[in-house]
Amino acid sequence: MNVRGKTLRGNFIHAPQASSVEALTDCLLAVDGSGRIAAIYPVDHAEREPAENAARQAGNLVEFGEADFLVPGLIDLHVHAPQYPQLGLALDEPLEVWLEKYTFPLESRYADPEFARQCYSQLVDDLLRNGTTTAAYFGTVHQEATRILADICIEKGQRALVGKVAMDNPDSCPDDYRDRSAEESVSGTRALIDYIRGHPGNRENRVLPVVTPRFIPSCTDAALAGLGALAAECGCHIQTHCSESDWAHAHVLDRHGMTDAASLDRFRLLGRRTILAHATRLEEADWKRLCVRGSAIAHCPLSNAYFGDAVFPLRAALARGVHVGLGTDISGGPTASVLESARMAMAASRILQSGADPDRAPGDRNRPNSAIDFQTAFHLATSAGGTALDLPIGRFEVGYRFDALRIDAAAPDGTIRLFGTTDAISVLQKIVHTASRPNIADVWVDGVRV
Ligand code: GUN
Ligand code: FE
Repeated sequence: MNVRGKTLRGNFIHAPQASSVEALTDCLLAVDGSGRIAAIYPVDHAEREPAENAARQAGNLVEFGEADFLVPGLIDLHVHAPQYPQLGLALDEPLEVWLEKYTFPLESRYADPEFARQCYSQLVDDLLRNGTTTAAYFGTVHQEATRILADICIEKGQRALVGKVAMDNPDSCPDDYRDRSAEESVSGTRALIDYIRGHPGNRENRVLPVVTPRFIPSCTDAALAGLGALAAECGCHIQTHCSESDWAHAHVLDRHGMTDAASLDRFRLLGRRTILAHATRLEEADWKRLCVRGSAIAHCPLSNAYFGDAVFPLRAALARGVHVGLGTDISGGPTASVLESARMAMAASRILQSGADPDRAPGDRNRPNSAIDFQTAFHLATSAGGTALDLPIGRFEVGYRFDALRIDAAAPDGTIRLFGTTDAISVLQKIVHTASRPNIADVWVDGVRV
């Protein structure tokens, strides 16, 4: 049911800060007519009773059950929409081979709008069912297919950032799958920005355009400079890959004589609304640069296991104050679920802490103080994603958008087994570790059930 203009009574759990979860048990939350959170009345709030009575009398009260837990919608900071057909395939090669052998040929098929419509429709349906209320999408180089992706997000009500992939470097992109020139990278990006911003179905700006240079190896310097200027002119988000693997890192050092982060910065591609995927190979100065610019990292732990050559030092990144959220990196990471990414983030951080090679001594195979807890994983999947995107989503706070999930922790077909667990934080721990699609009973974006 749509909950715009309704007052909800139930159990809410969110994590505005890393490592600390707030359980609002039997809480009242009012959503206004536009899908914004208008008021929150915890159980002991002085005005709660009159608010509840007023809502009941007006017929606007929606009451949830004891096993229902409302959590913020999941935020996926890094999805390659066109790669969904190869999810779970083609994970046997290093990044640079994987791109040429599997990924560019698949993406080139989106020259066919019908193929694009079919695949993108399935993807957006599946992500919504998995609880992803916001996704940052890389499309392909194609204008029409990328417009179709934006249309589908608008039609299905998903909050999304949609980018036409810019890749014009003839030295590293196939002839039949690239922009013909730097000018085409920039003008094609501008055309998509205009299309999304002017879309008659997008008056609430739930879908945003994002400037999307694929990564430095795919782009000429002229394209990078033009895209940086365009992003500044249009005030758009920016997304790209940054120091993802040893090869990618070395490629940029060799070509530009500096790291990805330094080079992106000189092209004006590092700002408060920049999302950098992976960043597994950052150097000391890069960390400082990201902090100063306020740019965010899309941590894609499952993809990093296949292509990253190292475990991302997540806890150290958070301690430095860099914005970090989670990404699936479909299809570099073989899952379409942010919850799975959160689980892998916990596991990878534990492996970094305990060590990987059993033939080395315990103190010689690890990096201490690296593990994150489930509260932090939940925070990354929700609130931190909203902060990374600089959007009012990911937590239950007045003024924030009501993007949320109802988790039915007792769903018979689900995978959460409570065995009498009632304490909200323990239930959340079970949700984070064991929930699956049948437990995701409702998904709302801007108060609309999607
Ligand atoms: N670097 C450049 N393109 C890609 C891509 O499609 N996936 C990943 N994981 N890394 C990339
Ligand atoms: Fe990626």
